[in-house]
Amino acid sequence: MSRLRLHLNGEEVEAEAWEGESLLYFLREGLGRFGSKNACEQGECGSCSVLLDGRLVCACLVLAAQAEGHDLVTVEGLGEDGELHRVQAAFAETGAVQCGFCTPGFVVATADLLARSPNPSDDEIREALSGNLCRCTGYAKIFDAVRLAAGS
Ligand code: FES
Ligand code: FES
Repeated sequence: MSRLRLHLNGEEVEAEAWEGESLLYFLREGLGRFGSKNACEQGECGSCSVLLDGRLVCACLVLAAQAEGHDLVTVEGLGEDGELHRVQAAFAETGAVQCGFCTPGFVVATADLLARSPNPSDDEIREALSGNLCRCTGYAKIFDAVRLAAGS
């Protein structure tokens, strides 16, 4: 075990981690931050999507040790001043959330997309969210949420 420190959602945090521990496990079990979901642990579903130094990654595929000293944003860190991020608000408003298990990953991936491309085409949305799986919604309302958040 070793003690890891990183900058998480605007604050310095630290906890013990073992050598092979994933960043997702570290977040959930080490730091008690349960926003990033664990569905497949194989990089297949996107439910654990986070921004590591501004880059969208699956936290289950990154070693916790690789995040040491780096900047990490999870779904808990997107909103400001106690307000939902506009992507979170759009998902709620359009009914794009059913069981909600996939939602944190979609929200983080959508926020990343809109930061890069404020008014994405349907193809861009499909491409950007192709790594995120949802078993419930059929994706139509998720598309509505992305378009609403984009203001189109
Ligand atoms: S839990 Fe990481 S991609 Fe599914
Ligand atoms: S809302 Fe249930 S998996 Fe997406």
